[in-house]
Order: sequence, then C-alpha cells, then structure tokens
Amino acid sequence: MKILVATDKPFAGIAIKQIKEVVEKAGHEFALLEKYKTPQELHQAVKDADALIVRSDIVDAAVIAAAPKLKIVVRAGAGYDNIELAPCTDSNIVAMNTPGQNSNAVAELAFGMMLYMARGGFDGKTGSELRGKTLGIHAFGNVGKYVAFIANGLGMEVFAFDPFVDSKIIKQAGVTPVDSVEELYSKCRYVSLHIPANDKTKKSIGANLLSLMPADAVLVNTARKEVINEDELIELMEKRADFTYISDIAPDNAQKFTEKFPGRFFFTPKKMGAQTEEANINSGVAAASQIVDYFATGNETFRVNKKK
Ligand code: 3PG
Repeated sequence: MKILVATDKPFAGIAIKQIKEVVEKAGHEFALLEKYKTPQELHQAVKDADALIVRSDIVDAAVIAAAPKLKIVVRAGAGYDNIELAPCTDSNIVAMNTPGQNSNAVAELAFGMMLYMARGGFDGKTGSELRGKTLGIHAFGNVGKYVAFIANGLGMEVFAFDPFVDSKIIKQAGVTPVDSVEELYSKCRYVSLHIPANDKTKKSIGANLLSLMPADAVLVNTARKEVINEDELIELMEKRADFTYISDIAPDNAQKFTEKFPGRFFFTPKKMGAQTEEANINSGVAAASQIVDYFATGNETFRVNKKK
C-alpha cells in the first residue's frame, strides 16, 4: 500500500524519519508531499495513494474525488474540522484522528503566550505573574488536562467547565468544576479555550460570555479561530481597555486587532500549538501506526466518520 504524508506545514525531520520507518517496516511504500502551494498539487499526489496522513490540510470532496484508491485518511492531531467526513463515508474511506498525541505541546504554548503577555512582551516594564490568578479551562479534554497540570504547578486557581466530562475527573485533576459556562467566564481572569470547531461551537465565544469576565481579562485561544465571534470580540475590546486576546493562529481580522489593540493582542503567524519535535513524532507515528494496523487487522479504534 502507498501511504502518503501530505502536509502544508511540515513535520520535523526526525518525525518523518520515524513515520517512514513504521510504514516501510510493515512492507508499505512511503511518499511525502510538503509545503505544497495549491490544492492541485495535493490532488496530483493523492492519485495513487492508498492511505493519507495530514495535519490541518483540507481534505474535501475534491481531494477524495482525486484519490480513487484511498482507503483511509488520518489527521495527525486532534481537531478534524479540516476533513469533510461525508465524502469519506460515501467513498468507503475511514477517517481517523490521533487524540492526545500533541496535547502537551499545545498546553505549553498556551502558557508560553500567557507568560509573554503577562510580562508585556518582555519589553522591560513591570508585568504580572500567573500565580494566584484564576484560570478557566473551557472543555476538559486531553489539552485541558495538561493545561490544568501546568496551571496547578504555577499556583493558579483553576476552574473548568465541560458538560461531557464527569466532575469527579475534573476534581481528581485538582481543578474546581463549575456548573455553567457563564460561571466559568464570570469567575476567571484567564480563560483558555479547548473546544473543537463544529457547527455548534463556531462563533460561540462572543460578547455574551466575554463580557462576563472580570477586570484584566485574558482570552487564550489555542483551539480554533472559528469558535470566536471576532466582530463581538473587537467591539468588546474597544469598550474594555483591560481585555487581552491571545491566539494561536492569525484571526480573520488580524490587521484590525493589531492596529486597534497594541499590547493587548498577540497571535502566532502559523498555528504553533503542535509544532514541537515531540508532538510531531507522537502524532505522526501514531497516524502511521494506526494505518498499518488498519491494513493488517481492520482496527478502527480512532475512526471519526460514519460507516456507509
Ligand atoms: C490539532 O488539532 O491537533 C492541532 O490544532 C494541531 O494542528 P497542526 O497539526 O496543524 O499543527
């Protein structure tokens, strides 16, 4: 079987080496497409691929149509909002993700950005510490758990809201569960987002929640830019000079945020959360292993799309 790794944003070289080893040890063929500039390059590359590994790369109906031999696509990472699931199902293609494999990297970045902003971008002026500050974790999945672990180490007062996670699990992590999302935003000076981007969550973080946040509020988004209602956030930041927004990836209105809110806005030029060697190895090797296992045994443990 030909297993293609197609990533606009490349994995670290050491991760590619290990992915290749997994693929070839199982007797499959390894192929690589990196830093492609157009969807056509991807369409060309998937033509004879039996399996596909991607990161945030768009796998839509056109990609599926261009890949007549494709049997499985694995998103090396957690969020699979970049994969159109219905065309995969229609073409009998299994779609999977690799949950948890890059979570620590994302959590570390959230704190890297929080510390950078709390210290005024390391500009020499007096900043503030994270110790003793309230942190609200919005969604207590794999990343949320690592965020809690680090926040506890820093001596923050940590709260979490997740209607899908038993409050016992949240408490076991040394975190106080709250009963509503409104309570989380009302209590916490820092809120860190860990919700997926889907039809229910897109644009769901807007004035209704953000206006509840206490003085010197900081919203940290290492989830997806799509979950933010940017117009409402801009309006709120215009009214509240104490509000800071930190985003892992440029928001759609990056220029507006940059011009209007100097010192209160930071974004990474490319999504950086999973950009560590460790996360690249973990998620890339997991993706390759899941494909090899699927071909060998039919194991569909991490399947995210419906069967036809
Ligand atoms: C994820 O959903 O796993 C992260 O957002 C990582 O995305 P990336 O692989 O594009 O860096």
